[in-house]
Amino acid sequence: MKDLRGRVAVVTGAASGIGLALATRFADEGMKVVLADVEPDALERASNELAGGGADVIAVPTDVRDIDAVQALADRAIDAFGAVHLVCNNAGVETGGSFLEIPYRAWQWVMDVNFYGVLNGCRVFLPLLETQDEGHIVNTASVAAFASGTSTMTPYCASKSAILGMSECLAIELDSAGSSVGVSLLAPGPVKTKMTDAERNLPPGVPPASEPHRVALMEELKAKADAVGLEPSAVAGMVVDAVRDQQFYILPHAEMAFAGVQRRLRWMTTGELPGVRTAGT
Ligand SMILES: NC(=O)c1ccc[n+]([C@@H]2O[C@H](COP(=O)([O-])OP(=O)(O)OC[C@H]3O[C@@H](n4cnc5c(N)ncnc54)[C@H](O)[C@@H]3O)[C@@H](O)[C@H]2O)c1
Repeated sequence: MKDLRGRVAVVTGAASGIGLALATRFADEGMKVVLADVEPDALERASNELAGGGADVIAVPTDVRDIDAVQALADRAIDAFGAVHLVCNNAGVETGGSFLEIPYRAWQWVMDVNFYGVLNGCRVFLPLLETQDEGHIVNTASVAAFASGTSTMTPYCASKSAILGMSECLAIELDSAGSSVGVSLLAPGPVKTKMTDAERNLPPGVPPASEPHRVALMEELKAKADAVGLEPSAVAGMVVDAVRDQQFYILPHAEMAFAGVQRRLRWMTTGELPGVRTAGT
């Protein structure tokens, strides 16, 4: 999709961080944008800000865990703009801990938002995209998809690996069928967002992770993202380039992704277990 002007984008997790930067950049490119998020107040603020700058946007409160809500999001997008060309399945969350300390419902929350949220977006929007002459899906994973073993982040690593596997299969299947729809996988390392505060959206009854080593790691990760993390706007620019150039992998921290793949390959070829990854590795 070379020309974005006048096209319609849907972004989930659009009220904050990378999603808000994507929505902002798409509006700057002249796209009509549908913002979806589970935080209604932040969503309204984001939408008002973009609309105040002259963008053609609508905001649709959406919980991506619920496929009926994602279908309603698609229906609203079609009602408002008549088509959808680009879908960013970007909403994501994180909680964790030592393996047996992680409540089962915390696992379900992470998998429901990160994996099933992305799956729901693909299932609902793919038929709509295929009615256009050009369409594109961007699924947000993480370098955690390539580099398992980050201390206390097991559900997150599992969910992002699942997005990687699904997106690779979908891209290959669509391409081999001659589909007009392209797929990209966004897999960043540290970005300056509110991700280390993802537990703000924990479902009722699921406690935030509280083991001291886990809390310390989150503080370390936040400090690292604040110090050396990319600006979300830089990531959004890479997404626009990848959509235009039909690139599957969007790797804002390519060296971290490559190191993760090499670590796994070394493990497979030598049989030696790698060490635990921490915020600095
Ligand atoms: N920030 C990083 O360093 C980093 C690194 C790698 C990958 N990512 C991924 O980037 C994506 C965006 O996260 P971010 O870093 O911008 O964090 P963020 O917390 O700033 O934004 C995430 C947004 O997702 C929304 N959200 C949460 N649950 C939702 C649900 N059920 N339905 C709809 N929206 C929901 C939140 O309300 C929030 O607005 C996530 O998938 C995250 O895993 C982030």
